[in-house]
Amino acid sequence: MEATQQQVSLGETIILTENLNKTYKLGTENVEVLKNINLTIKQGEFVSIMGPSGSGKSTLLYLLGGLDNPTSGSVKIAGKELSVMKDKEKSIMRRRDVGFVFQFYNLIPNLDVEDNIMLPILLDGKKIKDYRKKLDDILDVVGLTDRRKYTPRELSGGQQQRVAIARALINEPEVILADEPIGNLDSKTGQEVMELLKRINLENGKTIVQVTHSSDAASYGQRIIYVKDGKVVEE
Ligand SMILES: Nc1ncnc2c1ncn2[C@@H]1O[C@H](COP(=O)(O)OP(=O)(O)OP(=O)(O)O)[C@@H](O)[C@H]1O
Ligand SMILES: [Mg+2]
Repeated sequence: MEATQQQVSLGETIILTENLNKTYKLGTENVEVLKNINLTIKQGEFVSIMGPSGSGKSTLLYLLGGLDNPTSGSVKIAGKELSVMKDKEKSIMRRRDVGFVFQFYNLIPNLDVEDNIMLPILLDGKKIKDYRKKLDDILDVVGLTDRRKYTPRELSGGQQQRVAIARALINEPEVILADEPIGNLDSKTGQEVMELLKRINLENGKTIVQVTHSSDAASYGQRIIYVKDGKVVEE
């Protein structure tokens, strides 16, 4: 079988939301941002979330990764219910089970590429030297072996996003959550980053959920979830 035809077999449910609601209180007014979201995402899926600005896409992604708490309803990752986790458990989950990629990379300016990638390991209190080989492999995957000693300001936008993707991978999480990962890149660089994410999905079997405004970027995934006014309107 040709490499391009390689298929991951979809596994068990890795993310499950049930009647997920998020309401913000502004003064006396309740703003319902997410309304009864029920999603099932399988292990190894590459899902794109699309919808108008302000429809609740980022809010949804942050709830999926435990960066924010729902008003009601539940999120389960790999069978674990987030709402019953203590803060400490949840931050461990965010470091080990989920990798985040953001539009503006969120790298630490005075750390070089290697140290930015190793940050989750450092924060986890693990030994850096146990991860040297893993770091070499990941630098190779994202094509930054020759830039390992550079700092973010010495890198292009696409290179910085590839560092952020490497950082999301170092702890080998099952799930990568990406909020407009190519939103700040030109179209050619954006395509390269999307190709990289697709490879990580196919070759490493990672589950990827990305929010995007670009239908080109969305088409790298296997499924598109449309969100409008806080509801899933179409899959
Ligand atoms: N902390 C907050 N307090 C009050 N309202 C909020 C808060 N965060 C988000 N909202 C509101 O929730 C709605 C959804 O925001 P969200 O960031 O999820 O949209 P989005 O779909 O990601 O939009 P975009 O495509 O522009 O990034 C918006 O109307 C926003 O004003
Ligand atoms: Mg957003």
